[in-house]
Amino acid sequence: MKRIGILTSGGDCAGLNAAVRSIFYRAKDKYEMDVFGIIEGTVGLMNRPVSYTKLDYNTFSGNLLRQGGTFLGTTNKGNPFKFPMSDGSFKDRTVEIISGYHELGLDGLIVIGGDGSMKILKTIADKGGLNIVAIPKTIDNDVGATENSIGFNTAVNVATNALDNLQFTAASHNRTMILEVMGRDAGHIALNAGIAGGADVILIPEIGYSIDGIVEKLKKMNNHGIKHSLIIVAEAVKQEDGKNSTVKFADGEERLGGIGTYIAHQIMQKSSAECRVTTLGHVQRGAPPTTQDRILASAFGVHAVDLLAQKKFDRMVAWSDRKVVDFPIEKGIETYRKVELEDSLVKTALALGIYLGDIS
Ligand code: F6P
Repeated sequence: MKRIGILTSGGDCAGLNAAVRSIFYRAKDKYEMDVFGIIEGTVGLMNRPVSYTKLDYNTFSGNLLRQGGTFLGTTNKGNPFKFPMSDGSFKDRTVEIISGYHELGLDGLIVIGGDGSMKILKTIADKGGLNIVAIPKTIDNDVGATENSIGFNTAVNVATNALDNLQFTAASHNRTMILEVMGRDAGHIALNAGIAGGADVILIPEIGYSIDGIVEKLKKMNNHGIKHSLIIVAEAVKQEDGKNSTVKFADGEERLGGIGTYIAHQIMQKSSAECRVTTLGHVQRGAPPTTQDRILASAFGVHAVDLLAQKKFDRMVAWSDRKVVDFPIEKGIETYRKVELEDSLVKTALALGIYLGDIS
């Protein structure tokens, strides 16, 4: 194992640079490996010449540890099995990715990605004989086998800070402030930040709700003389008709978004509450990594390099019971980690009197 590559794939998040740094130090200091950062994820391996940067100690002498995003670049568009070409056609580009890996003379590749990226890279690795190890990252924290993925803690922190800020303006105007957060189909960001940030209502996709239930909660608060409130809603919470709120962009890409405005509108129709909506969006991904994300990323990076060095391929590192462990990639991503109704945090939120929807 002399030459290894690193790529970041899927949506960026905080802590990716810390992971790349950790991989470099472990690979160089312990195993004297040469380490190549692939530019823009799988796209870098499709390009000819392959787009990469050779990492050295100077790469990390500055602020990378502290920076959000990924200095290598990434992509969450363009499935390599059906890659959109400039002439409008679609092409399977997996062969180019495989030959890019071999052209760079790599002995192994560390993939830092979410469940989708890991699945894609595992399939390509099987097809082309690539030696890969995966590190889970996603603000959504929805990768089955790990208790925490890189980026989640920072996203929760950003959302908690937003609730902290909204509290003052809510109280000043006697308003109901609605904060819409990301998380894809899992409600982890909303649930964690909602508890930490003192939300009165937390809406997550895993638990149904009714507008009447929310209005009832606001009325109860009003009866106690509390005329302002905080609501946090996860982006994949459905409208009462069962539909997702989505936004379609000019390039045809569609994303979850808008449920906060929907909820505000419905509450205002059924009560005298004055609602305002904040959609937090990508600040949850671009913030500087929290202490916890830097530590997690560093621990994952070291373990991933050790796996490669021991030729334990096709494995995903994971955080479990205060330790870094590893699983076969298929097992690591076989379940989608949603909020379970039995989760301690669900119980905690209910015990705090937070309206969580149709659950008691
Ligand atoms: O998976 C990470 C995530 O930030 C989701 O929470 C969100 O739904 C999505 O990516 C946004 O994607 P994009 O960056 O393409 O807008």
